[in-house]
Amino acid sequence: MGKLRSSYFASSRSVCIITFMIYSSYLFSNLTSVEGFDSLLQLPQSVSFRNRTRSRRVLYVNDYGAIGDGLTDDTKAFKDVWKIACSSSSRVKIVLLAGNSYLVRPIDFAGPCRSKLTLRISGAIVAPKDPDVWDGLDTHKWLYFHCVKHLTVKGGGTVNGMGWEWWARSCKINITNPCRHAPTAMTFHRCKNLIVRNIMMVNSQQMHMSFTHCIRVVASFLRVLAPTSSPNTDGIHISASTYVEVKDSIIRTGDDCISIVSNSSRIRIRNIACGPGHGISIGSLGKSNSWDQVHDVSVKGAIISNTENGLRIKSWQGGSGFARKITFQNVRMENVSNPIIIDQYYCDSLLPCPNQTLAVSVENISFMGIKGTSATEVAIRFACSDSSPCQGIYLEDIQLVSYSGETTRSFCWEAHGTSAGLMYPPPCFSCGESIIEQRVPSSSVIWSI
Ligand SMILES: *[C@@H]1O[C@H](CO)[C@@H](O)[C@H](O)[C@H]1NC(C)=O
Ligand SMILES: *[C@@H]1O[C@H](CO)[C@@H](O)[C@H](O)[C@H]1NC(C)=O
Ligand SMILES: *[C@@H]1O[C@H](CO)[C@@H](O)[C@H](O)[C@H]1NC(C)=O
Ligand SMILES: *[C@@H]1O[C@H](CO)[C@@H](O)[C@H](O)[C@H]1NC(C)=O
Ligand SMILES: *[C@@H]1O[C@H](CO)[C@@H](O)[C@H](O)[C@H]1NC(C)=O
Ligand SMILES: *[C@@H]1O[C@H](CO)[C@@H](O)[C@H](O)[C@H]1NC(C)=O
Repeated sequence: MGKLRSSYFASSRSVCIITFMIYSSYLFSNLTSVEGFDSLLQLPQSVSFRNRTRSRRVLYVNDYGAIGDGLTDDTKAFKDVWKIACSSSSRVKIVLLAGNSYLVRPIDFAGPCRSKLTLRISGAIVAPKDPDVWDGLDTHKWLYFHCVKHLTVKGGGTVNGMGWEWWARSCKINITNPCRHAPTAMTFHRCKNLIVRNIMMVNSQQMHMSFTHCIRVVASFLRVLAPTSSPNTDGIHISASTYVEVKDSIIRTGDDCISIVSNSSRIRIRNIACGPGHGISIGSLGKSNSWDQVHDVSVKGAIISNTENGLRIKSWQGGSGFARKITFQNVRMENVSNPIIIDQYYCDSLLPCPNQTLAVSVENISFMGIKGTSATEVAIRFACSDSSPCQGIYLEDIQLVSYSGETTRSFCWEAHGTSAGLMYPPPCFSCGESIIEQRVPSSSVIWSI
C-alpha cells in the first residue's frame, strides 16, 4: 500500500499537485497540503488481536474452520459464521484475522439479520482464479450481500477478485470470445443503513463494489485498484439507491471510477482521487428504451487524472425519464480526454445506434470550479437531443486548458444554459429559447444521512 501511495504522489506528480494546491487553495478546503491529502487516505491498519477476548459477540472465522492460507477453500466457514452471526439476538462482529488470506467461492450473505452486524475484514478475501468455478452459478456475483440492514464492513483488509483470467476471456479483450458477465466483487442488494469503511479492493472480475436498491449507505476510505486495461472494472456502481455517500477514496481502474445509474437519487460524492479509468459518470440511462431517472447528485472535491472522461452524463436515444439537479463542484482535471461531457447519443455497440426521438431529459446540471488540463481539444461537450434539448446547464469558473499546450473549445448541440465567472474555453449555449436558466443552488442537494 505504501508503494501505491508513493507511486501516486511520486516526484513529478507532487510538483503538479503542489502547484495545483497553491493555485486553487479553496479546493479541498479541509485538506491543507499534499500531506494532508495523503494522510487522509492513509488508513489505519488492522490491529493485531493479541488478546482475543472470547466475547460471545465476536466471532472469529478461524474458529469456524477457516484456514486462511489462501489455498484452502474457506467458503463453508464463512457460511457457517454468517449464519450464526445473522441469527444472533445481540450485536455481533465477525472477524477475519490480519495476515490471513481466505479463499472464498461465490457466496450469499443473506439478511435480514436479527441484530446489527459488523464484518471486520483484516487480512484478505481472495476469489478463485478460475472462472470455471462459476459453472452453473450466477456469474454476476461473488460476495453477495442482500437484504441486510445495519451492516458495517471495515477493517483495513483487502478484497481481491483475482480477475486476470476473467479479463482474458472478456469479449472486450479478445473479440472472438463470447460476451458474458463477470462477477461484481462485492454486491450490496436491498441494503439499508450500510457502512463500508477502510477496505482495499483489487482486481475485481468486473465491477468492484455495487449498491443496488439500497437506502442509506456511507462508503469511505476505500482504495480500489485494477489495471487500466481491465474491462468493465467500475470502481463503485450505484443503482436504484438513495442517500448514498462515497467519500475520501482513491479509485484507479479500467472503467468508471464511480457510476450512478437507474433510479438513484440523493447521492453525495466527496474527495475522490480518480484515474486512470473513465471518470465519474451518471448513466448510461435509457438503454433499450427504458425509463430511468437520476436526480439530486452532488460531486464535490475530486482529482481526476488521465481518464477517458471527467464528469459525464450519458443516455441512450429512445429512452425516457430524466437526469436533473446534478452539481459538480471543485474538480481538478489532469490530462482528461473529455473533462465535461453530456452525451444524449450514447451508443456502446459495434453497430451505430438508430436515430430515435425519445430521450432521457437532462436539466439543471451545474459545473462549478472545474479546472485543469484536457487531453483533447474539445474540453466541454454538450451533445443534446434534438427532441429533448438540455435545459438549465450552469457553468461557473471553468478553466480547462490543453494538456499539450494547444487551444481548447466547447461543443454544443441543443444545449441551453448560462455561465458566470471565468470561463475557458468559452461556452457555446444556444441563444434564445432557453426556458430554465438558473443555477441549481447547492443547498438543493443538502440532506442528512
Ligand atoms: C484480555 O481482555 C480482557 C477483557 O478486556 C481482560 O479481562 C483480560 O485480563 C485480558 N487478558 C490479557 C492477557 O491481557
Ligand atoms: C482469442 O481467443 C481465441 C479463442 O478463445 C484464442 O484462440 C486466441 O488465441 C485469443 N487471442 C488472443 C490474442 O489471446
Ligand atoms: C426504474 O423505475 C421505473 C419506474 O418505477 C421502473 O419501471 C424501472 O424498471 C426502474 N429501473 C430499475 C433499473 O430499477
Ligand atoms: C495524456 O492523455 C493521453 C490521452 O489519453 C495519453 O495518451 C497520454 O499518455 C497522457 N499523458 C500522460 C503523461 O499520462
Ligand atoms: C441520424 O441523424 C444524423 C443527423 O441528422 C444523420 O447524420 C445520421 O445519418 C442518422 N443516422 C441514422 C442511423 O439514421
Ligand atoms: C431547474 O431550476 C430552476 C431554477 O432553480 C427551477 O425553477 C426548476 O424547477 C428546476 N427544474 C427542475 C426540473 O428541477
